[in-house]
Amino acid sequence: MGTRPLLNRRLEGMGSTIFAEMSALAVATGSINLGQGFPDTDGPREIAEAAARAVLDGRGNQYPPGPGIPELRAAVTEHQQRWYGLSYDPDREVLITAGATEAIAAALLALLEPGDEVIALEPFYDSYAACIAMAGAARVPLTLRAPGFRPDLDELRTLITPRTRLLLINTPHNPTGTVLTPDELRGIAELACEHDLLVITDEVYEHLVFAGAHRPLAALPGMRERTVSISSAGKTFSFTGWKVGWVTGTPELVAAVRTAKQYLTFVSAGPFQYAVADALRLPDGYFDTLRADHLRKRDLLAEGLAAAGFDVYRPDGTYFITTDITPLGETDGLEFCRKLPERCGVVAIPNVVFYDNTEAGRSQVRWAFCKRDDVLAEAVARLGRL
Ligand SMILES: Cc1ncc(COP(=O)(O)O)c(C=O)c1O
Repeated sequence: MGTRPLLNRRLEGMGSTIFAEMSALAVATGSINLGQGFPDTDGPREIAEAAARAVLDGRGNQYPPGPGIPELRAAVTEHQQRWYGLSYDPDREVLITAGATEAIAAALLALLEPGDEVIALEPFYDSYAACIAMAGAARVPLTLRAPGFRPDLDELRTLITPRTRLLLINTPHNPTGTVLTPDELRGIAELACEHDLLVITDEVYEHLVFAGAHRPLAALPGMRERTVSISSAGKTFSFTGWKVGWVTGTPELVAAVRTAKQYLTFVSAGPFQYAVADALRLPDGYFDTLRADHLRKRDLLAEGLAAAGFDVYRPDGTYFITTDITPLGETDGLEFCRKLPERCGVVAIPNVVFYDNTEAGRSQVRWAFCKRDDVLAEAVARLGRL
């Protein structure tokens, strides 16, 4: 095999994720894991039963259709219409994927040539960097800076070059909790149109918005024809293990993404697709309760973190809170998170791993609040020991 490294250069340095390291630390130390973003309570019983019924009734146990089962594609189009007034053709403008993760990978692999540049909001969700790298493209961060974590549209303009192929926009934004305002969305849309850029939007936290409202970029003038919109069932229905996601866009964009997707997983999660179709049609009350529950959890954890001495950036959306550790006399989030389990039995994630401009995120730490109230209360009590 010679001296050549086994892992190709594009993936160098991406060996293991911070979530694996911190979750292993949580298990080893018996800590409360506020690191990885998954709920500790499953979603609606009736939706779990729908999945079980589909398995037992033999629906989806064999390869489902490549684009996804028709029932789910129809439910996705109804959802986009019901919440955002966006209309899509379920046969040509919807693609079901193995979670948003596969949708992001397939979209980037389909739409990028080596050497293209992708502008993404930084700090970024870790799969963006890996997928942009696998496509041979270059990532260009638009840094969201504390305390407001707003995108600077003048800076965005300066980042656009002749090599820029697409904007990768995540709103509500993990890990900062930023929800883009109508003005910010309009500014981004205008730049995309002016420079004829494609846009990928990651909207997996669309139903976890506490201030303002989620607005899809695809709804803005000139954007439908250039936007690949991505979402998934994991966060909205608290079934992150099912990995059912979807893409909406023009027939041409969806066909491009489908071309890459069919050679990644081809298809996935047959029976779960039936259950997610039911979930997307749940009444408004379900979505209201989801939001109200998470708002309460956000405030419980935010107040506990503030009482423990952190600077707290209260998020407008998602189920993460970003804090700054400087008031505790600390400067290095990574070191802080590695020691935290031993110090007080809680695990969190250092935001610095989501930055290229590491200076901007060095002292930030992220906490997930999608946990039971009693777990959050215990975590707060433990953090009080700091
Ligand atoms: C911003 C963002 N996008 C995508 C995903 C992945 O979604 P899925 O589980 O549907 O693949 C996550 C999960 O944490 C996320 O935070």
